[in-house]
Amino acid sequence: MIKAKIAELLKSNQFLQEVEVKGWVRSFRSNRFIALNDGSTINNIQCVIDFEKTNEDILKRITVGAAIKITGTLKESLGSQQSVEVEVKNVEILGDANPEEVKLTILSPKRHTLEKLREQAHLRIRTNTFGAVMRVRSKLSFAVHSYFQQNNFHYVNTPIITGSDAEGAGEMFRVTALDINNTPKNEAGEIDFKKDFFGKETNLTVSGQLEAETYAMGLGQVYTFGPTFRAENSNTSRHLAEFWMIEPEVAFTDLDGNMDLAEDFIKYVVKYALDNCKDDLDFLAERFQNEDKTKPEAERSEMGLLEKLQFVTQNNFKRVSYTEAIDILKNSKPNKKKKFQYPIDAWGADLQSEHERFLVEKHFKCPVILFDYPANIKAFYMRLNEDGKTVRAMDILFPGIGEIVGGSQREERLEVLQKKMRALDIDEKELWWYLDTRRFGTCVHSGFGLGFERLVQFVTGMTNIRDVIPFPRTPQNAEF
Ligand code: 4AD
Ligand code: MG
Repeated sequence: MIKAKIAELLKSNQFLQEVEVKGWVRSFRSNRFIALNDGSTINNIQCVIDFEKTNEDILKRITVGAAIKITGTLKESLGSQQSVEVEVKNVEILGDANPEEVKLTILSPKRHTLEKLREQAHLRIRTNTFGAVMRVRSKLSFAVHSYFQQNNFHYVNTPIITGSDAEGAGEMFRVTALDINNTPKNEAGEIDFKKDFFGKETNLTVSGQLEAETYAMGLGQVYTFGPTFRAENSNTSRHLAEFWMIEPEVAFTDLDGNMDLAEDFIKYVVKYALDNCKDDLDFLAERFQNEDKTKPEAERSEMGLLEKLQFVTQNNFKRVSYTEAIDILKNSKPNKKKKFQYPIDAWGADLQSEHERFLVEKHFKCPVILFDYPANIKAFYMRLNEDGKTVRAMDILFPGIGEIVGGSQREERLEVLQKKMRALDIDEKELWWYLDTRRFGTCVHSGFGLGFERLVQFVTGMTNIRDVIPFPRTPQNAEF
């Protein structure tokens, strides 16, 4: 008896062997053809049942969404859809799904909008689209570890509850102990949030970078891959309040080395998906194409999903300084809809996503690495350039996504860093441990952060970030 996942059975040629397969019913046609899926692949296996030989009560319970176990014989399929099918000998109902109740959910076999699916995020994983997206997501996670492990990086786990605001942007969720009796109170008897975490004010981490830097100073090259949190009330298709970030940090590497690493890493993980997620990506590519057709001509993608992915793995990313980019934007022909024309003399301003998209999608038509940003729009820890006004920052911009990576060479000089912290009113006492890295054996080092969901968006072609993470945390999706 072969007990295998559907993904393996569909590739098998062990015809006439007895098989056992468990899964959820996707459809049941003509009291004869069961399409069964077990999550191992986008493809269903067809199980052919002889209704005359099957107990009527069992037949009635083979309904969409039910969990069943089938034993039968593996046969070569005569249908053109697939090469194998199962001739059913026995069906066991493992878990019923009442059709009247199913009708009220997104399991009902009709087209549901992505918005509707989001309302039932716990069930949407049983649809083809989410099955494909989440399998690709899982493979990409593995590829992340595989890349860094092959290249001698060490995986570090940085704290989720922390006292520091790595980005200095104040977009943090505070951690509050609910044990009121043990929570410090002020003189008026009110909870003293400043001392909430055993006498200290803490928040959920916005980035593991500062801690990762301390580890790079001992392990040489490290990476984090964990959840991060941003209390930004932005309802866009690219922002989540809880997202996963990958943050490598490398000692003895400057900004050029950092750009090389980021580019090589992205190419590796995208290629990994192309090589290991063929069926899912084929499905998503078709979906992408159909969705594209519904858009106005001007907004349609020049490439299909697979072409886009191949393009990224095969072409160099364009490296452009912030100052050059501003010049390009200033000289760009005014768009009639005046959407992305950049105001003249805008040096020093942060780029809006429409500017980023113009550079990537219309001007260079390839991924772009922008570097050497004005110091005053970037975080305190970035290495000041000799011009005294720009820092060794880099952002990687992707078509359809905008910023996918943010990183920099770090300020390794203690006095320069202290001066910057003073200017920004960052308390040295809070970051004494961070400053120690600059006191004891400081060195040139660099790193970056890649938003994992934005990567998954790019690879799967999904337009909304809420559809590439199982349970999206946004101002509207706090249900689960
Ligand atoms: O540019 P950010 O804020 O950089 C940092 O946090 C640095 N400490 C990283 C480092 O150098 N180690 O964030 C990095 C990336 C962004 O480029 C974006 O891809 C993603 O994280 N990101 C978000 N993804 C989803 N939702 C949000 N709200 C995000 N904010 C940032
Ligand atoms: Mg950024």
